[in-house]
Amino acid sequence: MERTFIMVKPDGVQRGLIGEIVTRFERKGLKLIGGKFMLVSREQAEFHYAEHKEKPFFGELVDFITSGPVFAMVWEGDDVITLSRTVIGKTKVTDAVPGTIRGDFASHTNFNLVHGSDSVESAEREIGNMFIEQELVRFDRSI
Ligand code: CMP
Repeated sequence: MERTFIMVKPDGVQRGLIGEIVTRFERKGLKLIGGKFMLVSREQAEFHYAEHKEKPFFGELVDFITSGPVFAMVWEGDDVITLSRTVIGKTKVTDAVPGTIRGDFASHTNFNLVHGSDSVESAEREIGNMFIEQELVRFDRSI
């Protein structure tokens, strides 16, 4: 069973889109097993974006993700990493098609509202950076 880390970023929170974004994943049939409203520390931000450490926009990424509260979540299910990225849409907002979260609501790549893990390895690292195992709820769904 796969898990992924999904985060409504500070722009999504400021724009009042937490509910809309959570609804998109629920509507897709994905299973929420953890969620919290939180401030990301600089240490967590640098670890979260470690793969972009050499990029020119690394400092901006860290500044932005620590600039205000985020809504961090863990979703679980078969192929949940790929499925959730399909729901989110392309990183570059000019490529994000209508019907996706970014395609419907984002107009700048730096303010693309939501993050989703891109691999099993990233997901494990990102989940471990923001959650402790006891915050994740194990339960069976009947439907
Ligand atoms: P995210 O999915 O959180 O992962 C890295 C983030 O870097 C990405 O969303 C964008 O918000 C941001 N970003 C800014 N500039 C670029 C760029 N040129 N290419 C990719 N990501 C970028």
